[in-house]
Amino acid sequence: MLYRPLGRTGMTVSEIGFGCASWWGQARFDEREAVRLVHAALDGGVTFFDTGAAYSGGEAEPRLGRALRGRDLGRVVVATKAGTYHDGRRIVRDFRPEAIEASVERSLGRLGLDTLPLLQLHGPAVAELDEELRGRLARLKQRGLIRALGANSFDPTVIEHLIGLPEFDVVMVDYNVLRPERAPLIAEAAAAGKGVLAGMALAMGHANRQVFRLRAPRDVWYVLRALKNHRADIGKGARFGFLSQLDGMTASQAALAYVLSDPNVSSAVIGTTRMAHLTENLEASGLELPAATRARIEEAQRFGIGR
Ligand SMILES: NC(=O)c1ccc[n+]([C@@H]2O[C@H](COP(=O)([O-])OP(=O)(O)OC[C@H]3O[C@@H](n4cnc5c(N)ncnc54)[C@H](OP(=O)(O)O)[C@@H]3O)[C@@H](O)[C@H]2O)c1
Repeated sequence: MLYRPLGRTGMTVSEIGFGCASWWGQARFDEREAVRLVHAALDGGVTFFDTGAAYSGGEAEPRLGRALRGRDLGRVVVATKAGTYHDGRRIVRDFRPEAIEASVERSLGRLGLDTLPLLQLHGPAVAELDEELRGRLARLKQRGLIRALGANSFDPTVIEHLIGLPEFDVVMVDYNVLRPERAPLIAEAAAAGKGVLAGMALAMGHANRQVFRLRAPRDVWYVLRALKNHRADIGKGARFGFLSQLDGMTASQAALAYVLSDPNVSSAVIGTTRMAHLTENLEASGLELPAATRARIEEAQRFGIGR
């Protein structure tokens, strides 16, 4: 596993990060299997774990806390999110400073930590990033409850705004073969000293049409998520079918090598519930994307015609 600096935070992270969200965190996914994946990731050198208070119906964060209990976390950067939570029925947004502070305190308890290495606001609006909230976040840092501050947004206007805010150390954006248009913004963020995390680095399985291989209930759940939230990506993903026929690397490895070929990315964060997929993804660290594959990816991105 290779490691990269996380902007100017003084922390380094594994270039493949493990996302503790989605099906991984759900109660109906066997806890022993979920924990086994986290332990295998740790043993494979992963030092970046991403979760959120609202993920998986609120179950993902405490599950990650249980998985990390008793493990050496010396080099591990645990990231969680605030601004959203699950009320038992649905995800609720609350970016009031007092709600963010309460969320941080709950997250520390659930994760079993004294300090959160990275707190990320989960999809804030520009108007919510006001002076009062930024002042409260700065005080959380001074009190040692959080080490670094970031925000996760898929809205370029919000990311652009965050780049100009000195309180923020890290941004997490949606960056994968389907989203090459994020590269200039990522370069701008990195030039401003922000650490950049690529969330959805595998385009949620659309980069390799994995999402249509129905082998278990979780696969049906992945398809329903795609149909509900990411319909456009289903069509876009169809252009990248050629990634499944490469010599020397799998489609997921090529998709990760593409993201990691951008030196401005600190970590490509993947989600998985299958050990074989985790192993394959960890082996993508250090893989170089062959020039011919890059050319075909860029062609598919430009013209929408994969061969
Ligand atoms: N999606 C979002 O809206 C979002 C938002 C903010 C942050 N994030 C962060 O980004 C992380 C990753 O995003 P994500 O989970 O949405 O999507 P993702 O990592 O882009 O894709 C996950 C999908 O890819 C499949 N997969 C993983 N490895 C594979 C492999 N080697 N071969 C074939 N298929 C593979 C998974 O299925 P299997 O389970 O079968 O492996 C799953 O269907 C999240 O966990 C979270 O930390 C995501």
